[in-house]
Amino acid sequence: MDPQTLLFSLFTPEGRENPFPALEALREAAPVYYDKDLDTYFLTTYKHCQAVLTDAVFRTPDLSWCEEHLPDWRDHPAADFFYSSMLRANQPDHTRLRRLVGAGFTPRRVAALRTAVEDLTDGLLDTFADATAHGAVANFQELVGYPLPVAVVGELIGVPAADRPQFRKLGSDASRLLEPVRTAEDWARADAAVTELRVYFEDLLLRRRSEPREDLATVLLEAQEGQERLTRRELVDTLLLIFVAGFETTTGMLGLLTHALLTHPDQRDLVTGDPELAVQAVEEALRWDTPVQMTERIAAEPAEIGGVRVPAGANVTAVLTAANRDPAQFSDPHRFDVRRSGTKGLSFSAGPHYCLGAVLARLEGAVAVRRLFTRFPGLALAKDPVRRESVSLRVYEDLPLTACGPVPSPERATAVATTTVKD
Ligand code: HEM
Repeated sequence: MDPQTLLFSLFTPEGRENPFPALEALREAAPVYYDKDLDTYFLTTYKHCQAVLTDAVFRTPDLSWCEEHLPDWRDHPAADFFYSSMLRANQPDHTRLRRLVGAGFTPRRVAALRTAVEDLTDGLLDTFADATAHGAVANFQELVGYPLPVAVVGELIGVPAADRPQFRKLGSDASRLLEPVRTAEDWARADAAVTELRVYFEDLLLRRRSEPREDLATVLLEAQEGQERLTRRELVDTLLLIFVAGFETTTGMLGLLTHALLTHPDQRDLVTGDPELAVQAVEEALRWDTPVQMTERIAAEPAEIGGVRVPAGANVTAVLTAANRDPAQFSDPHRFDVRRSGTKGLSFSAGPHYCLGAVLARLEGAVAVRRLFTRFPGLALAKDPVRRESVSLRVYEDLPLTACGPVPSPERATAVATTTVKD
């Protein structure tokens, strides 16, 4: 198959389900592949992805990039938000934004959230236990995978519990911005979601001004008034970014992690036999099926990647799912092995934009794995899960589980019955 067919297969339902054979073939055929139609260099080796993400020559596409490539960006609130946010800002704005946020996102503050993470997980697993009582099937994502990260990032920022359920659709609509090819509908959904979320966070800040609390919203309000000012818009957009980045990706991780363990019973047994392995299981699940499939950079000057000359201004995309299964970096990369240790994958990116919430996400994953598999020894997949129609985010929308062992499909039940009669 030619490289373009391999790359474009990622946009099909089969490619969303299992992109790995195509990515492997693409890495073998053209590890640095320039696609003329998408005008982008796609990188599929760990070495090249890591190099580009950590090299200052490769910048994130920011508002100055929009001026040239997205001239109508002012008509899109979502573009205005996304390309000026920390995630897409470059020096010196990126350093300033990240330093200010860092004040409210210290390891101490994250560690202080541990009890909240444990309590929230237990509460949601109570609901999950009720929903799966007497053999019923329940969507893990709806009951745990989505509400847990929203509640955790809500605790961090200061979003009241009563407000949290409304964010599921807004979060997935805002995340259409991450798609490598955005349709008019993607823009419309993202614009509407960003507009609504901006109103919400403006209002939250007004409440915090009159009633300060021990939360990130209050810390950032104080930072806004300090020496290295955040503008009002930056303040609102930074809360919005942390909120959406904090739950959309982690929801993906919780579903992928649970699915990986359920479909690898030997690995699940290792984790239930030794809860210390939960931390490694999270790391391995993030490597094995990565929530953020790809991320983009722009070459600020001419460069060379793996012997391929890349002109100034070129779009370069690091395919993190491919990097995480690169045999040059991970032995037997397609094997899901919770005892794998050593090199970390690129699931949280690398370099200046390395995920700000990685410690918190890992904590959520480890707590969830330990509690879920201890409490539900009969946990099993009830039906095939359904993924979101997204190339950039690998997220299950529906992960149907039963708490008491596998539910035979009608065909399988008939087959079993037939076999019994024959015997
Ligand atoms: C498993 C869960 C998560 C995954 C896989 C993930 C992945 C990523 C990736 C790949 C990036 C960098 C993208 C790039 O280089 O272009 C990133 C950045 C970021 N993440 Fe996460 N993330 C997760 C959880 C979180 C959480 C829980 C939070 C906040 C509570 C968060 C907040 C952020 C922020 C603010 C950035 C921007 C950092 C910057 O640009 O300097 N993430 N994340």
